Amino acid sequence: MTKRVGFGIIGAGAISAFHASSMANLENVKLVGFYDPVKAAAEKRAAEFNCRAYDDFEAFLADPEIQAVTIGIPTGLHGKVAIQAAKAGKHILCEKPLEITPGLCDEVIQACEENNVLLATVFQSRFTESIQKVKAAADAGRFGKMILSSVQVRWYRDADYYGKSPWRGTWKMDGGGVLMNQSIHTVDLLLYLNGDPAEVSAFAGTLTHDIEVEDTLCAAVRYKNGSMGTIEVSTSCAPGFPRRLEFSGSKGSVTIEEDQIVRWSFTEPEPGDEVVAKPFDGNAGGGSNPTNIRPDSHSAQISDLANAILNGGKPILDGVEGKRAVSFIHGIYEAARTGKKVVFS
Ligand SMILES: NC(=O)c1ccc[n+]([C@@H]2O[C@H](COP(=O)([O-])OP(=O)(O)OC[C@H]3O[C@@H](n4cnc5c(N)ncnc54)[C@H](O)[C@@H]3O)[C@@H](O)[C@H]2O)c1
Repeated sequence: MTKRVGFGIIGAGAISAFHASSMANLENVKLVGFYDPVKAAAEKRAAEFNCRAYDDFEAFLADPEIQAVTIGIPTGLHGKVAIQAAKAGKHILCEKPLEITPGLCDEVIQACEENNVLLATVFQSRFTESIQKVKAAADAGRFGKMILSSVQVRWYRDADYYGKSPWRGTWKMDGGGVLMNQSIHTVDLLLYLNGDPAEVSAFAGTLTHDIEVEDTLCAAVRYKNGSMGTIEVSTSCAPGFPRRLEFSGSKGSVTIEEDQIVRWSFTEPEPGDEVVAKPFDGNAGGGSNPTNIRPDSHSAQISDLANAILNGGKPILDGVEGKRAVSFIHGIYEAARTGKKVVFS
């Protein structure tokens, strides 16, 4: 029989249901329980997924069946809770963003190293078939010299979305607005597929919501590979379109809408290229519905961490990878705040 890693889930809010359902069909994982300081929240999820409920963090961390934890709580608490879990010897899969500043990400990375536990950061979009297809083409040089790399997240969130989880839309707990929270997956995909930024200029504003952080941001970026592009993100664009990524090189171009390749064209075609792009299937992802996430969305990353624990490896997307998008976003925020171009070292 395959060995299973016992997982506990920290936080029993919106994303916790996706952590639990993503574990359901994994052969190397067993869900042991939920911890949330709100007892009713922990009990509700535990009843749904037939496991234990904890409202006492020390008791949760002392459960010997829990070898690893997922963290899905307000972002500004990720570091504090992750460091406590690391000290208790638990391996960690932490929701995006790993923390709200690059320095706080470093503290989590260091605590995990010091306590010999593995740290993985959630960016589930990297693991979709379409993104893996684009990554393979980019790594094989099929796009030629990258020319333009741009993304759009023209989403819609109503006042209730911010109102029912008041940590959202705050600098202290959300670490920023639409760029840091809703768009960080897309920013991470830019880094994953196109590489690190060289310099950025940006504008940010709060156009429709009663929140202290930006709900709309536009940035112009030059990347280290010489390509340029824009980042346009908002939670004020009704009714909310699928996110869009577009990469154009000297030898080929691709357009991705939500998780689907809708254009795929090369000057040197290969067999099979003709069936890659498909007409958009209409699933706008998180465009207007924050819980429109696949029930098995996190399976690949949870299974990857479990395999690393069982076989002595490292997770594919570790803390250092998780910090990259936070550092990029901090540079973009600085450019927007100062009105000056920010150059990345
Ligand atoms: N990967 C994704 O697609 C995705 C989607 C949504 C949210 N997220 C991330 O997940 C995290 C949580 O977001 P959410 O939408 O589930 O929030 P939420 O407000 O729905 O739930 C947060 C939960 O955390 C609990 N909590 C508060 N402090 C806690 C603590 N110290 N220990 C344990 N639990 C605590 C709250 O009681 C609540 O139940 C955020 O970091 C967010 O960025 C990721």
